[in-house]
Amino acid sequence: TNPEISKMMDLYAKATQLYHHVLMNTELGQKALDYLHQRGLSDQTINDYQLGFASNKRLLKPFFEEKKIDYQTMHKSGLFSETHDDQLIDRFANRIMYPIKNEHGKVIAFSGRIIQASKNEPKYLNSPETPIFNKGKTLFNFDIAKQFIRKEHSAILFEGYMDVMSAYQSGVKNGIASMGTSLTEDQIGKIEQHTKQLYVCYDGDKPGQAAINRAVNMLANQSRLKLGVIQMPSGIDPDEYRQKYGEDRFKNYVRAARESTIAFKLRFFKNDYNLNNDEDRIAYINRSLKTIASSPSPVERDLYLQNLSSEFHLKSDDLRAQIKPYLIKHQ
Ligand code: GTP
Ligand code: MN
Ligand code: MN
Ligand code: MN
Ligand code: MN
Repeated sequence: TNPEISKMMDLYAKATQLYHHVLMNTELGQKALDYLHQRGLSDQTINDYQLGFASNKRLLKPFFEEKKIDYQTMHKSGLFSETHDDQLIDRFANRIMYPIKNEHGKVIAFSGRIIQASKNEPKYLNSPETPIFNKGKTLFNFDIAKQFIRKEHSAILFEGYMDVMSAYQSGVKNGIASMGTSLTEDQIGKIEQHTKQLYVCYDGDKPGQAAINRAVNMLANQSRLKLGVIQMPSGIDPDEYRQKYGEDRFKNYVRAARESTIAFKLRFFKNDYNLNNDEDRIAYINRSLKTIASSPSPVERDLYLQNLSSEFHLKSDDLRAQIKPYLIKHQ
């Protein structure tokens, strides 16, 4: 193996130890630990994910020096920024550190969260790409989740790292997240190695809904995965759901709220129309018919046609006539 890579892996392992130690065992980490406990994360979860705290005391460089890590590796690690006089100072300060691992469970990057929301600083700061970290090839929690993805015959894609950890703590262990970007071909390929079924479970706010729509459209085009949606209640994200209702209800909800992408879209499209207006109603119905027509399953199509028929008091036969031009040949 490449010595540059193994030295960098070693540095990230050491950094994980230091951050975790500061969080769990020092006064410097107390506020951060209180914050995580306040959010209802257990010590078990904090330990399983090796969460940590980066203080503002510049502990990293002397710690690495003591561990005989060379300057070049430190310099390239992305954990420091350089001052005008070539000093390395911690890039992550006063942040809760979530280790990002590769699929073998080795830490290759961090995402750092500020404790208190601030206008001047981003909520999350991620490690830059390095010889060991490629955002587009990494899925958060994939090292832990893959065995559960096989067992459950499905994966769940969450929006945030905290949602994934919340789900894990609630016993939903097949959750993953991308690195804050849409899924790449490479990430899709990794998921497809373990399952045929992916559920998208993003935040219940407006941006989350729009992101679900984009994600399922992209995945329908770029993957062979069977897709479903897990819709969060309006305005809350999965982690907030667990905080509000507890772990058991979270687990039940995630199972019970599964729906088809068609059911999601028929609801999502409603935001674009005023359904009290006839013209808008007709436009909505036509858009819905196009979506229903995209299903290869006659039974599924019929189910949603009948729903439309009763919702808008229309004859099923009329809807069947109107969907005809939209039907495409499915292999
Ligand atoms: P919490 O507030 O800790 O619960 O985080 P969240 O996961 O609910 O965050 P949010 O829904 O706002 O954003 C979802 C995901 O987008 C996060 O997990 C990050 O991956 C990413 N994200 C959010 N804010 C930032 C940011 O300021 N910078 C970067 N790089 N990514 C962000
Ligand atoms: Mn520990
Ligand atoms: Mn969000
Ligand atoms: Mn969120
Ligand atoms: Mn959240």
